[in-house]
Amino acid sequence: MKEQINSFLQKAQEELSACNSLKELNELKVKFLGKQGELTSFLRGMKDVPKEDRPEMGQLINNARNVVEQKINELENMFSQQELNEKLQNEKIDITESSKGIEKGELHPLYKVFDKLIDCCVEMGFKVITGPEVEYDYYNFEALNVPKDHPARDMQDTFFINDNILLRSQTSSVQVRAMQNLKPPFKVVSPGRTYRADSDATHSPVFHQFEGLVVDENISMIDLKSMLTKLLSMLFGENTKIRFRPSYFPFTEPSVEVDATCPSCGGKGCNLCKGTGYMELLGAGMVNPKVLEMSGIDSKKYTGFAFGPGVDRLAMVVNKIPDLRMMFENDVKFLEQLK
Ligand code: DAH
Repeated sequence: MKEQINSFLQKAQEELSACNSLKELNELKVKFLGKQGELTSFLRGMKDVPKEDRPEMGQLINNARNVVEQKINELENMFSQQELNEKLQNEKIDITESSKGIEKGELHPLYKVFDKLIDCCVEMGFKVITGPEVEYDYYNFEALNVPKDHPARDMQDTFFINDNILLRSQTSSVQVRAMQNLKPPFKVVSPGRTYRADSDATHSPVFHQFEGLVVDENISMIDLKSMLTKLLSMLFGENTKIRFRPSYFPFTEPSVEVDATCPSCGGKGCNLCKGTGYMELLGAGMVNPKVLEMSGIDSKKYTGFAFGPGVDRLAMVVNKIPDLRMMFENDVKFLEQLK
């Protein structure tokens, strides 16, 4: 047994010296020191060793174990260090490399316009309300003085869900909800998405409107004009002038189309405004007394004005872009250049 132990020790030392990876070392560790290992088998064989020789054998086995264990520890440390060095070498950070910078997100240009409109109106004392996008025909049309057979329905190519339910074609539907739920006097604006079966350079099937409604005693066109002058000056610049042209909407009487001096040339005439000096921006008017009455407001006591710009159109004018679709193609490089 003595010889066996000595030759084991010699063989173990040789094999350990030849070993050159942590993985290999772990295999040798199991082979020499493990439960099924060679040293353990010597210990098991002790029962066959004469009693007087056992202390010596025991010592020999322990000694062999210590030598092997120490060698394994040394190698383990060495390999771990080597591995760490390699890792550090490979993962070296090049501090001279220039940084990519942090990409900061921003609101979509359309929502920047929404935010400006909302802020300006809140400052003037308006309350912000919203209504459903899937709407009853009643709120979108009938209560706005557009009965089922009214020719004005042809002005808007509406997505119907069934006879009575549709995707709202205008935020004017929220006017009706406001008139039914609030007691005059009140001033509300309602931003939101609207839908029409329409698609070209200046129309998208999903678009955005910003509805305004004021109901009080003695409200007149002058209030509408001064309010809109303030709102549009905030968007296009202090010296913006506006003008009213006669128009027709079933829910306002009289109705107007509102133009503002072109933000590009200030009214002199340029390419953007096709030489006219003005940009067509929105529809507005005095709330039709019939509409007030339908929602339970006494039209002898109260009058009101309403307006409803398309926000996509406003954003196009603010940013001087000719095609609405450019705003929704999600080309970040393009969007980043817009206000
Ligand atoms: N809802 C109208 C449209 O989509 C725009 C409009 C016109 C809104 C006159 C109004 C208004 O509030 O008074 O064409």
